[in-house]
Amino acid sequence: MSSAIVLAEAMRAATERLDAAGVASPRYDAEVLAACALDAERSAIRTWTAMGARVDQAAADDFDELVQRRCRREPLQHITGRAPFAGVELAVGPGVFIPRPESELLVQLAVDFVRGVSNASTPVRVVDLCAGSGAIGLAILTQVTQGGGVVHLQSVELDDDAVLWLRRNAEALATPEQMQVRHEDATAAMPEVTAEIDVVVCNPPYIPLGAEIRDPEVARYDPARALWGGRDGLDVVRGITAVAERLLRPGGLLLIEHADVQGESIPAHLAAQRHGDLGVWTEIRDLRDLNDRPRCTYALRSPMGER
Ligand SMILES: C[S@@+](CC[C@H](N)C(=O)[O-])C[C@H]1O[C@@H](n2cnc3c(N)ncnc32)[C@H](O)[C@@H]1O
Repeated sequence: MSSAIVLAEAMRAATERLDAAGVASPRYDAEVLAACALDAERSAIRTWTAMGARVDQAAADDFDELVQRRCRREPLQHITGRAPFAGVELAVGPGVFIPRPESELLVQLAVDFVRGVSNASTPVRVVDLCAGSGAIGLAILTQVTQGGGVVHLQSVELDDDAVLWLRRNAEALATPEQMQVRHEDATAAMPEVTAEIDVVVCNPPYIPLGAEIRDPEVARYDPARALWGGRDGLDVVRGITAVAERLLRPGGLLLIEHADVQGESIPAHLAAQRHGDLGVWTEIRDLRDLNDRPRCTYALRSPMGER
């Protein structure tokens, strides 16, 4: 690098601009953007900053342009084109929902369940409804595979733009034997399958109509279809619980991510799902995320004898 700009000064100025623009984690974002501009790891940016390194004018200009975009509240992940999530890195951009750290709870619960039921000879069958970039299903697949397990994943997405990102991530992170992408409506998905699936995970659109979305990154860049769930936010949830009832084998696991105001309504909806006199689901419970907010409903498909 020819000498021109002291990196530490560029970092300090960028952090201040991002902070003034309302970015929640300005120093982190500045480091990620510098890494992107300099084609380096974030850890290298930290080291070079501490060492008093300099960058040439062209690299400083590239960094400045990325900082400007972020100051206009374009999502960091759209600028870099990458979204790290639960041990995988997804390609993301316009047209697809950016995976959120809160969803790592579903991944952890699913991986724990899969490890408990897997054996070397038969793949554990996992379905990711409303898959978006594929984040949740691909993270489960990757973590289980790294632990020596075998998963067969089917990821279902309706949106024409989102499914392009899903296919791209499937090709990069899984083999065709491990994963199938299905471009269809999750509320009527996989009509040919009954009582065969071990785990259904779903992070559906769940924001109630009329709710205020404060973050510009979400309001301007996440696709509307990924966010809005009808009057009470549960339109898609009602559809996917009926599908999960058909897909899951007895004892199979259903995990649904939800808004923090839905920690009672979704368990109540599942408890009301009946087959004659018998409940469709057992062990229904709601779980909290790392911020101690209600985030995920857990239920097991009742054994056939209880139907
Ligand atoms: C909140 S995003 C979650 C995406 C991904 N699972 C994640 O956690 O990053 C909801 C996704 O559901 C998709 N979607 C909405 N309605 C759907 C439907 N009826 N069938 C299939 N996908 C749907 C949206 O296009 C969007 O990709």
